[in-house]
Amino acid sequence: MNYGYFDDAAREYVITRPDTPLPWINYLGSEAYFGLISNTAGGYSFYRDARLRRITRYRYNNVPFDTGGRYLYLRDDASGQFWSPSWMPTRTPLDSYTCRHGMGYTVISGAAHGIEASTLYFVPLGANLEIWRLRVTNQRATAARLSLFSAIEFNLWDAWDDGTNFQRNFNTGEVEVDGGVIYHKTEYRERRDHFAYFACSAAARRTDSPPQDCQSSLAGFDTQRESFLGPYRGWDNPVVVERGQSGNSVAHGWSPIGSHHVELHLQPGETAEVIFVLGYHENPADDKFDPPGLRQTINKRTVLPVIQRYLQPDTVEAALAALRSRWDDLLSVFTVETPDEHVNRMVNIWNAYQVMVTFNLSRSASFFESGVGRGMGFRDSNQDLLGFVQMAPARARERLLDLAATQLENGGAYHQYQPLTKRGNDAVGSGFNDDPLWLVLAATAYLKETGDWSILSEPVVYENRPGTEQPLAEHLQRSMQYTLDRLGPHGLPLIGRADWNDCLNLNCFSETPGESFQTTENRGEGKIAESVFIAGQFVLAAKEMAGIAEQAAGGKPHPATSDLQPAAYYMQLAQQMEAAVRAHGWDGAWFLRAYDAFGGKVGSAECDEGRIFIEPQGMCVMAGIGLEDGLAEQALASVQGHLATEHGVVLLQPAYTHYRVHLGEITSYPPGYKENASIFCHTNPWIMIGEAMLGHGEEALNTYHRICPSVRAAISDVHRCEPYVYAQTIAGKDAPTHGEAKNSWLTGTAAWNYAAITQWILGIRASHDGLRVAPAIPASWSGFTASRLFRGVTYHIDVRRAGPGNRVALTVDGQPVAGDVVPLPRAGVGEVRVAVEVGR
Ligand code: BGC
Ligand code: NOJ
Repeated sequence: MNYGYFDDAAREYVITRPDTPLPWINYLGSEAYFGLISNTAGGYSFYRDARLRRITRYRYNNVPFDTGGRYLYLRDDASGQFWSPSWMPTRTPLDSYTCRHGMGYTVISGAAHGIEASTLYFVPLGANLEIWRLRVTNQRATAARLSLFSAIEFNLWDAWDDGTNFQRNFNTGEVEVDGGVIYHKTEYRERRDHFAYFACSAAARRTDSPPQDCQSSLAGFDTQRESFLGPYRGWDNPVVVERGQSGNSVAHGWSPIGSHHVELHLQPGETAEVIFVLGYHENPADDKFDPPGLRQTINKRTVLPVIQRYLQPDTVEAALAALRSRWDDLLSVFTVETPDEHVNRMVNIWNAYQVMVTFNLSRSASFFESGVGRGMGFRDSNQDLLGFVQMAPARARERLLDLAATQLENGGAYHQYQPLTKRGNDAVGSGFNDDPLWLVLAATAYLKETGDWSILSEPVVYENRPGTEQPLAEHLQRSMQYTLDRLGPHGLPLIGRADWNDCLNLNCFSETPGESFQTTENRGEGKIAESVFIAGQFVLAAKEMAGIAEQAAGGKPHPATSDLQPAAYYMQLAQQMEAAVRAHGWDGAWFLRAYDAFGGKVGSAECDEGRIFIEPQGMCVMAGIGLEDGLAEQALASVQGHLATEHGVVLLQPAYTHYRVHLGEITSYPPGYKENASIFCHTNPWIMIGEAMLGHGEEALNTYHRICPSVRAAISDVHRCEPYVYAQTIAGKDAPTHGEAKNSWLTGTAAWNYAAITQWILGIRASHDGLRVAPAIPASWSGFTASRLFRGVTYHIDVRRAGPGNRVALTVDGQPVAGDVVPLPRAGVGEVRVAVEVGR
């Protein structure tokens, strides 16, 4: 079944039927106000923090699955028939339907009964609000008298509390309705200085009498859910819509909602435009009420100018244009034209877009992440940075410093932090021994991209505690030391609670249902179980530290690096760890995964299940282990031989068939799902990078194609998730649903695939000395072109295949240059032309 198509010129995915296998969603907002929106207008909004400042309510795992959102109802007042132009929630068959998901906006259009309605949803730059711009056209030969109803359900701010604490919450709800604007002010009387509002442009028009021509006017409102829906009814059949008249209800307790009733009178062919603004606003704590004192009425003087501005069509148009031009800028940083339309589409549009979304939201809010469970992940955000650093270096800098500020003095890291407070999450704590090393890799990526050495001297606190400031360079040094202080019996890093694989819990030994695998250590002090993955990661990080320590113009150490050890020190660490991997982490044909708490092997040919894992193969090869003597070659051949499937490379084989208390959560999953042998897409680009490092362009691209959403669009009924963004997992070959994706959007897959394609297959990557161009493209490609903004200079790169192999010959602005790095041009040069011959 075909559910839609890519409109690359518009940078949109166009969904052509509403009943997609799963809700296919998009994100609105990229600064402070965010929303999720599905192709049938489902979803919710929040300010900064999906848990603590939830603006609208959404019930996860609902029936139907995606119920609750930014809903509109149209009612033919002559016949009483009503429908939703976004199909949900009434699910009335539509004569036409499209949903266009674009860069930061979504347009949902639907026609029924000769009435065409199209709603644009977006969050303007710099504003804490979302716009819904509805255009309704009467395509009938006769005049139409219509009622339009809007509907959202307010969340009482803390989404966790909102979903659980009903004994209190059914009493606290408060609203005000003033001038057609619905204000949600639960808890404003006490400690909150913020409120939400829902405004409608029709309120600005006459409210006393119905419109004569194509005008619209506000005829009523509702703010109490039961008044709007009616008892024992759902969103598909609100009593107010059925009867065509609002109840003008004012919520006291129970469930505050926002609904406007707009009357539309449209002549044949006429179009009416109605703008809704849903927003969040904060008032100064000492100026919350107007008049000050006991009436407790919201001071609206600060918010009304904002509302009035955004209800204007011109403002909306200008805000949309500004949003488009922001995305033009962001996406123009790196563009490519290759013989592969999927690569072009993902690099130029969707992968870059998804990387920005993961940067903004980490793993907090998607249709699979409820926004209440997890804040910003330490390892997640560091890896996300690898994908977006070139698009927003200033924000990357800020993020790095935020992350480092949650680091512990021993070099360890809080596993998560809350975006609103920027403080480490005590409930989850630390002890994931891979975490600190990701900070080194992210900082390296930032330095290579920007050359901004000043960040290394930036004073940063530990654990958010003032007075503990140390330069960022010292934080990186302590990240390395953290591993060195935690080596196990084989000289390999202790795994702690888990490494990248959150479910490899070798010290957990949980027998208690429901106990957290991630935060429980039931036995011993964790001084035996070791991770070969962290060993590989440490080798990679140590080499990067050496690069940083040595770096600066002409190879002289940069002043900012004086807090670091000399390069030779880090190179020696890398060599020692590599020696430990070679001695104890090589299983004969692939890298071992780990040693368990009894010193037994995990991921070895000796095991009955879980004989080979993908992660150490990817990480050790990326660290450069065995590139010269064939180990890397052998490890990747083993991956292709044992783990590759038509839907991607699975995480391990054979899948674990029963729970093993000494391995933890990984064995809790049924075979083929999640960490137990699904195609955990995050790890596939590591293999692509490894293949590219070995010069295998064909294998690298082929591995990519299997998980590439754009390629998989052709099998949407199998894949089921959105065809424009990566999902975290695709069910593995041991699962009955092999090929089915889950957990779309918020996954490190986005950043790593972007890096793998652009930096390794196309080979264009930032280095300390300049932009490197070292492609590993398939033999069949005649070449490609790219444009890359790097440190303020635009590089126009033209790659031509001259023969087999991957050797490159560079010509920079007409001059041959040795090696594969384009040297930084002299100051003032804005554009550089790079001609690259591959295979000569
Ligand atoms: C999942 C992991 C995830 C972890 C986060 C586990 O249940 O399988 O993928 O990283 O939860 O806490
Ligand atoms: C998802 C988590 O967000 C990520 O940090 C982890 O590495 C993977 N799951 C694998 O367990």
